Amino acid sequence: MLFIVERDKNGLIIEINQVEIAIWINSKLWFLNMNGWLYLCGMSEKFTNHMLGLQLPTDPRWVNIAQMNIEDILVDHAYCEQKAASSCISLIVQYPDKKDLVDMMTPVVAEEWSHFERVIEQLNKRGMKLGKQRKDEYVIRLQGILKKGGGREEQLVEKLLMNALIEARSCERFKMLHLHIEDEELKKFYYELMVSEAGHYKNFLSLAKSYMGEEYVSKRWKEFLVEEAKIIESLEVRGDRMH
Ligand SMILES: [Fe+2]
Ligand SMILES: [Fe+2]
Repeated sequence: MLFIVERDKNGLIIEINQVEIAIWINSKLWFLNMNGWLYLCGMSEKFTNHMLGLQLPTDPRWVNIAQMNIEDILVDHAYCEQKAASSCISLIVQYPDKKDLVDMMTPVVAEEWSHFERVIEQLNKRGMKLGKQRKDEYVIRLQGILKKGGGREEQLVEKLLMNALIEARSCERFKMLHLHIEDEELKKFYYELMVSEAGHYKNFLSLAKSYMGEEYVSKRWKEFLVEEAKIIESLEVRGDRMH
C-alpha cells in the first residue's frame, strides 16, 4: 500500500492520501488517489486542495477574517465538535446491530469530545466564554442534499457521506488555519485537529463503502461533492463561522 505524504514548510505532515495508482507521464510521477484525483508528485496547494475530494477551495479571505474574530471562531468550532460527537452517538443508537459501525464510531465519539474539551481550554486561556450556539447554515443546507426514502442501508450511507463531507471541509479549514494563523499555539492546535479529522473522513467513507459497495458510494459521493461546492459558493464568507 502506497501513501502520498505532504508536508508544510516546517516539515509537519498536512496530508496523507492512499494512492491507488502511480504512473510516469512525460518523465514525471503522477498519483491517482481513492477519489479519482490525479496529482503530480511534489506539487502542493493547487492539487492538494482537491485531495479531500472537495470541488471548491475555501475563499482565501476567510482565514484572514477568521483570525480577526478568533473568539467567534472558537465558539463556533466548539459547537462543531459537540455536534460531531452527538452525530456519532446518534449513529450508534440508530444502528446498534452494525458491529463495525459501533466499533468504529465509539472511539470517534471520545475523540470528538476531547476536541470539544480542547477548544474550551483555548477559550478559557483567553478569558473567553462558550456563549450560545449559532445557526449552522452550512449543515442545514447539507441536510437538504440527503435523499429521502430507500432502504435502511441507503439511509445510513446518506448519513455517513454527510459526516464525511463535514469532516473533509473541517479538515480543509483547519489546514488553512494551521498554515496562515499567526498565533503559534493555535497553529499547532489546528494542525493536530486537521490530522484527526482527516482520519474521521476516511472512516466514514470506508464504512459507507462496506454497506453499499464501492461503485454506489463513489457515484453518490461525487454528487455530494458537487452539491457541497454549490453550497460553499452561495454562502457568505464569514469570519465568525467555521464553515
Ligand atoms: Fe473533531
Ligand atoms: Fe471529526
